Amino acid sequence: LPEIITNKDEMRKWSRAMRCRGKTIALVPTMGYLHQGHLSLVEKAQSLADVVVVSIYVNPGQFSPSEDLSTYPSDFHGDILKLGSVSGCRRVDAVFHPHNLYDYGNIGRKGERDIVEELSEEREKGPPASGVSSCVEEMGAGHETWVKVERLERGLCGKSRPVFFRGVATVVTKLFNIVDPDMAVFGKKDYQQWRVIQRMVRDLDFGIRIVGSDITREQDGLAMSSRNVRLSPGDRGKALSISRSLFQAKSLVERGQTTNCSDLRGTLVQAISGAGGKIDYVEIVDQESLETLGEVDRPVVICIAAWFGNVRLIDNIEISG
Ligand code: PAJ
Repeated sequence: LPEIITNKDEMRKWSRAMRCRGKTIALVPTMGYLHQGHLSLVEKAQSLADVVVVSIYVNPGQFSPSEDLSTYPSDFHGDILKLGSVSGCRRVDAVFHPHNLYDYGNIGRKGERDIVEELSEEREKGPPASGVSSCVEEMGAGHETWVKVERLERGLCGKSRPVFFRGVATVVTKLFNIVDPDMAVFGKKDYQQWRVIQRMVRDLDFGIRIVGSDITREQDGLAMSSRNVRLSPGDRGKALSISRSLFQAKSLVERGQTTNCSDLRGTLVQAISGAGGKIDYVEIVDQESLETLGEVDRPVVICIAAWFGNVRLIDNIEISG
């Protein structure tokens, strides 16, 4: 089985020791409840680096108080078994599983009560100026530094999840600082997240290679996600409208039947709403800038977020254009 490390300093020591032995390190950040999609990232990491660290941490900083932090599924024991036997590959070298990445011991503790009081006063006054709070603030932890990728995080998922990317960029920064990897692998399933991290690494000179890895799907096309287990059997069937309509849109473009984004968007919206999904967004955007386009005149990605029951699903497809 992989080595399990729960302490930040132990993790640093482990990485340092690997470095001294001349090993390159790849990190695969996850929130656990691992499925084949996560394991495909591990396989990619194993093909690129000497040793692989998988982090398992459900990050409160990227959930808002109204989101599903408390019901986020977990199965640490099962995860470890899966990482011990990645299909045909060697086992993962280490699992970083911190209890709380926002616990700074005595540093900041003194002010914790003040922060909680301040926050509740603020709440009585109404929402803070930024209008956003995350679960880490709710916890009143002594944390106040955030990494924000200004423009890229605003659209798509950023619209309905205002604290999400700030939380992701910040926790990924913390993981990078603790694990100090040569590279890190992210899934294109979370396309905007991958692009946000890529930009952050470039803008802040992290010196870590960010690798994007293709979406793993169930046999019927549904993009694998830890949240899929929360779909009712009925919604599980209806949710197929997402991947089906994405494949259909791609083939329409590739057969030269349309390059008009608003027509394409209309078809997708109809297919998903028709199946009973509640659409958060359907957007056709530039693969790098994530800017909304009128025509498919360059490499694009069609991004979708939709609710089926109380489960929010995302998916996307790249089209070379
Ligand atoms: P999580 O949702 O656990 O996903 C971890 C990684 O697995 C992400 O890079 C995600 O894009 C990738 N992934 C998930 N499902 C996939 C699929 N079907 N095919 C390919 N890759 C897939 O994303 C997060 O956790 C968090 O935001 C994190 C980056 C760990 C920061 O907390």
